[in-house]
Amino acid sequence: MEDVVKINQLTKVFNDKKAVDNVSFSIKSGEVVAILGPNGAGKTTTMLMMLGLLNPTNGEAKVFNEDAKQKSIRERIGVMLQEVSLMDRLKVKEIIGLFRSYYPNPLSMDQLIGLTGLSQEDLNKRTEKLSGGQKRRVGFALALAGNPDLLFFDEPTVGMDITARKVFWETVRKLANQGKTIIFSTHYLQEADDIADRIILFNKGSVVADGKPEDIKGKLTKQSVSFIALHDIPREMFIQLSHVSDVFKKDGRIFVMTDDTDSVLARLFELKLNVKDIRIEKGRLEEAFEQLTEKTREAM
Ligand SMILES: Nc1ncnc2c1ncn2[C@@H]1O[C@H](COP(=O)(O)OP(=O)(O)O)[C@@H](O)[C@H]1O
Ligand SMILES: [Mg+2]
Repeated sequence: MEDVVKINQLTKVFNDKKAVDNVSFSIKSGEVVAILGPNGAGKTTTMLMMLGLLNPTNGEAKVFNEDAKQKSIRERIGVMLQEVSLMDRLKVKEIIGLFRSYYPNPLSMDQLIGLTGLSQEDLNKRTEKLSGGQKRRVGFALALAGNPDLLFFDEPTVGMDITARKVFWETVRKLANQGKTIIFSTHYLQEADDIADRIILFNKGSVVADGKPEDIKGKLTKQSVSFIALHDIPREMFIQLSHVSDVFKKDGRIFVMTDDTDSVLARLFELKLNVKDIRIEKGRLEEAFEQLTEKTREAM
């Protein structure tokens, strides 16, 4: 299948800080991809570079094998950015009409109303009178106006109420079923898991995992054995075991991440380590996600 997006060694540095650090991946036609990561992970910066709205410090981003700045490419892309900014003093229906006029094969006004859940009342409102949630809905209509093959949504549901979220994701599913390629960013693991067929997990400017939600969840939901150590325990004592993926200290406890808690316990007793308050945890997804993307860990 065709690569719709291809980014290669993409890097963006802002005043010495690497916001995006040597990221490469490609996205095929018809994929629904979640770019998942905590705030500051580099999701928006990556999207802006894919869209040609921000120049990379290094590497390149191609959309339909071209630079996304080109008009012929622009016409095939729909975008809803994190901050939806709308021209003041236009009515919603006027601004949507204006956007539709930019494209060779726009969706009809009725189709856009059906897809976004905008009401007649909303359409007659002036843009400066809209609430945050209504603005998002208009932003969604503008992204769909040109009937694009490829859609980008940057944290689309932030500021939406539950009903608006539901309408939004239902429409995204509809668009996906029509074979459109959809790329959205989110910091909600649940959202990524519910909607996407692929998750690209970002942390601190890098891709830390890329795969099917099932596989990512498998990776994230490691089990752990944790305990309080009454004397120094070198990390090496556990990290060298084949079924142990990580060892770290948090909140005064040592955590041994593993897919075989029995073996870790056996080892713990075998070594006759002086520890107390041993706990075994079956990985919870949200917690594992936090652990993976956590900013600071204590030194051991
Ligand atoms: N225009 C900018 N100038 C300086 N730093 C920026 C700019 N845009 C983003 N950053 C920094 O780059 C990092 C990644 O930001 P961003 O891509 O917005 O993350 P995300 O969208 O995942 O929350 C953050 O540390 C952010 O503060
Ligand atoms: Mg962002």
